Amino acid sequence: MNISIIDISETDSTNHYLRELNAENRLPEGTVVSTDFQTAGRGQMGNTWESERGCNLMFSMLLRPAHIQPAQQFIISQIVSLGVVEVLDDYGNGFSIKWPNDIYWNDKKIAGILIENDLAGKTIFSTVVGIGLNVNQQKFCSSAPNPVSLVQISGNTPIDRRVLLDSITQQIGKLYESYRCGEDTEIAFRYASRLYHGAGYYDYEAGGQRFSAKISRVEESGHLVLLTSDGIERKFAFKEVSFLF
Ligand code: BTN
Repeated sequence: MNISIIDISETDSTNHYLRELNAENRLPEGTVVSTDFQTAGRGQMGNTWESERGCNLMFSMLLRPAHIQPAQQFIISQIVSLGVVEVLDDYGNGFSIKWPNDIYWNDKKIAGILIENDLAGKTIFSTVVGIGLNVNQQKFCSSAPNPVSLVQISGNTPIDRRVLLDSITQQIGKLYESYRCGEDTEIAFRYASRLYHGAGYYDYEAGGQRFSAKISRVEESGHLVLLTSDGIERKFAFKEVSFLF
């Protein structure tokens, strides 16, 4: 995939900017918009995404996954979160994917992903993959509960954001192409092997109830299947279950 990066110093949200630009121009797959600052950065479930000016990575990448059925769209989450975590491995240990697609370092969140699909009938016409990755920010004042940045992990030398951006977009492109060539089980396997709390029993909360469970699997649909300590399998969609710390 040919990656082409558009740098802008400030925008409301790179996801919004890229969607608008694409609506006007029909951009090629692999177009990336990256910014130093967002005035209205968006997170999952209508949350905001805050990030100090010029410190971090905030970018959106355009895909045209006409070969992926809407029912299989979770593979895009798997590809993107794997792409991020596999590049972060070059910067240290302890990175994982908190289902469905948060990127964690130990028990702290280092990156968030917001994927927005435009459907046309039964196909995905275009996908905007938005990624916010904490890179050089030293202090976090927002309400985000447990943020961490790469510089806090890897020592105090500022990290080159451009190198990181190039590596992540290339890695996502590579995984995306490998999926197109039929490596879907390989991607699902690699995703499963990187899951936060992927082995052993931990505490979860669902419908006001607390319980101990271990991750059994993540289904193609993206549902998380937990095996409770009582031996019962329970299946959850995003936001139906929380991880307790
Ligand atoms: C989350 O809530 O974890 C997802 C956060 C996604 C933030 C990124 S920053 C770049 C892109 N533009 C946005 O407005 N959001 C995403």
